[in-house]
Amino acid sequence: MSDALAARLRDEIRARGPITFARFMEVALTDPELGYYTRGAPRPAREGDFLTAPEMDPVFGLTVARQVDDCWRLLGRPDPFVLREHGAGSGALAASIIDGLRADGSGLLETGPAGTAPLRYEPVEIDLARRRDIAARLAAAAPQVVVADPVPGARMTGLVLANELVDALPVHRVVGRPGVPGGLAEVLVGWVEDPAAPLGGRFTDVVAEPTTPALAARLAAEDVTLADGQQAEVRLADAAWVADVARDLERGHVLVIDYGAPAADLYDPVRRPAGTVLAYAGHRASDDLYADPGDRDLTAHVDATALEDAAVASGLEVLWRTTQAAFLMACGLEEVFGRLREDPALTPERYLTLRSAVRRLLDPRLLGGFFVLALGRGLPPGAHRARGPTERGEA
Ligand SMILES: C[S@@+](CC[C@H](N)C(=O)[O-])C[C@H]1O[C@@H](n2cnc3c(N)ncnc32)[C@H](O)[C@@H]1O
Repeated sequence: MSDALAARLRDEIRARGPITFARFMEVALTDPELGYYTRGAPRPAREGDFLTAPEMDPVFGLTVARQVDDCWRLLGRPDPFVLREHGAGSGALAASIIDGLRADGSGLLETGPAGTAPLRYEPVEIDLARRRDIAARLAAAAPQVVVADPVPGARMTGLVLANELVDALPVHRVVGRPGVPGGLAEVLVGWVEDPAAPLGGRFTDVVAEPTTPALAARLAAEDVTLADGQQAEVRLADAAWVADVARDLERGHVLVIDYGAPAADLYDPVRRPAGTVLAYAGHRASDDLYADPGDRDLTAHVDATALEDAAVASGLEVLWRTTQAAFLMACGLEEVFGRLREDPALTPERYLTLRSAVRRLLDPRLLGGFFVLALGRGLPPGAHRARGPTERGEA
């Protein structure tokens, strides 16, 4: 499987010369037939290559459900209220959010005269098989919730969610070169012929002039100067993604949850001299970015400053950014944990997995250290407060 994709990338480089790492990553992850995310393998899940918070345990979505309900009430309980999830995966987050709304008695699930609830769920998922599975999963869990693809060009009122999506958007690789214009070179992907090697050669780093001035412009806008030899990534695709989200959002919130940091931290030459891009396979991280394209996840930390700048440029308001641990505590994780613990059907095994999940969600070195960024548009006064780090939304 990966040989076929590697051969395609090899042929592209033979024909055009070295390609950007962003192109390599885009093909490796999203080639329509052979991409890591598009060819229908089970990920992310226990049998996959990594485990996200919603796949790890429903307690995550049960807690996030409180934010969803807050956003709805703060907007004046619109019907429909669209929950649009980018990178929806298996639908695990949506399913546990719906369970949480039910457990909390949220009006978002109350069936109206038309036979549907205010909640309308719109998964945005590049893996078409998964998109179909999500619809079946949610139809069984909550038939009153309409599950539909976003209508092109239609503007929505509601909440846009993206958990561990942005880190999968392609990145360019750069290296600091003080003294050259822009202060950086780009690390492209080349091909070295070697008749003895499988596929007749291997991918290799090629350091060259940047393929676009946008790379230096992005870092300059963030006041970042790379040290000599410092490796880093620049994700230009994040701005286009934020612009797409903003274009469709008439009124409501956007929550981006991912691993990453503001630019000053992400590009710190002492803490991260070699950047953050990694390959993942079988729950193991590797810095061999070129092995088995299509069989491994490729990911790099998210630049929170770039998302915020893109949001402002797209007409969204930056509401707040906090850690996942603080966000979940503000949403009432302790209360949700307490409710689950009191369940008379709770088995000792379930208690242990639940407790371990809560610990991982709060541990700043694990999922607790992820950031949660809230953006918004067209919000009534006070609506920006929905589940900020210290405040709770109000009815
Ligand atoms: C790391 S997984 C996270 C899935 C889910 N949000 C979760 O937390 O379990 C990333 C998901 O984003 C999807 N994806 C990757 N690139 C995408 C894109 N450009 N547009 C939409 N979905 C994408 C993948 O297919 C995958 O389901």
